[in-house]
Amino acid sequence: MKKITLVYFSPTKTTETVLKAITQGLAQSLGISGSEITAVNVTRPEIRENGLAPFDDNDIVLLGAPVYAGRLPADAADFFKKLTGSDTPAILTVVYGNREYDDALLELKDIASACGFIPISGAAFIGEHSFASADIPVAMNRPDENDLKMAAEFGGNTGYLIKETHDLKNLSALTVPGNYPYKDGMGKGAPDFIEVTEACTNCGTCATACPSKAIDAENGFVTITARCILCCACIKACPEKARLMKDGPIKDKARWLNETCSLPKSAQIFFATPS
Ligand SMILES: Cc1cc2nc3c(=O)[nH]c(=O)nc-3n(C[C@H](O)[C@H](O)[C@H](O)COP(=O)(O)O)c2cc1C
Ligand code: SF4
Ligand code: SF4
Repeated sequence: MKKITLVYFSPTKTTETVLKAITQGLAQSLGISGSEITAVNVTRPEIRENGLAPFDDNDIVLLGAPVYAGRLPADAADFFKKLTGSDTPAILTVVYGNREYDDALLELKDIASACGFIPISGAAFIGEHSFASADIPVAMNRPDENDLKMAAEFGGNTGYLIKETHDLKNLSALTVPGNYPYKDGMGKGAPDFIEVTEACTNCGTCATACPSKAIDAENGFVTITARCILCCACIKACPEKARLMKDGPIKDKARWLNETCSLPKSAQIFFATPS
């Protein structure tokens, strides 16, 4: 019996939702039960301090992360690079906010290959943009029902590929879009783009949600901008809607995205093929 492990970075949880739908289809097609499925959410910084035990060819690993500036978020990429596979089949997923995924899926494939995994399928799904709000609804409410159906089908078809392939090493290498050199991506550090209003009850939810230890719980839950990765997890997690995006360059970017990327895109899916 094979084991399935999901490893994902997902500040605003769209990647997590997509990976779980893929897993549902995968487990069903392979007849794998819930007790053989482990989800490792590496969004929180303390989880990323340690690596994971090596995987072998009895494992199937799903790797997932959002797209930040056409690349993987650096924290996710750095964690994935610490993984070890041993001809372990890997299912690779990036989730993006309806602009483009540029080089992110290629970067994930390159990391997985370098770590000893066999990338057997890859996908780019759409998720609500981190910068979205009720007023600026970029890709709002994605993944939707149709996305999740596609995700489950993608998982199911990957399962059939695994079942029908005698030796996964004989598959021709997975090909995904992307270019070298990769786009520049994002460093750490953000403009001061969040205000904390009087509605704040000091509950601490935002600090717990932050993947970057970038919220000062001792000082009015203000953002430590040098550590912030702009993920907006804190804004979306605040139960009082007390964290708001200020007017400024990030809100302008959100408005620009909302105007220029309004046509809903569909998921793109890729499989390694029998050679
Ligand atoms: C800093 C930053 C950069 C982003 N860059 C892109 C991008 O290049 N293309 C895109 O379509 N979406 C981009 N997004 C949107 C996210 O990829 C998208 O919202 C994703 O669903 C978030 O995943 P999560 O919910 O797992 O955190 C960006 C988001 C952030 C925070
Ligand atoms: S989650 Fe909202 S209410 Fe809670 S501490 Fe943070 S800003 Fe304040
Ligand atoms: S402070 Fe910055 S890094 Fe932390 S959750 Fe908020 S936007 Fe993300």
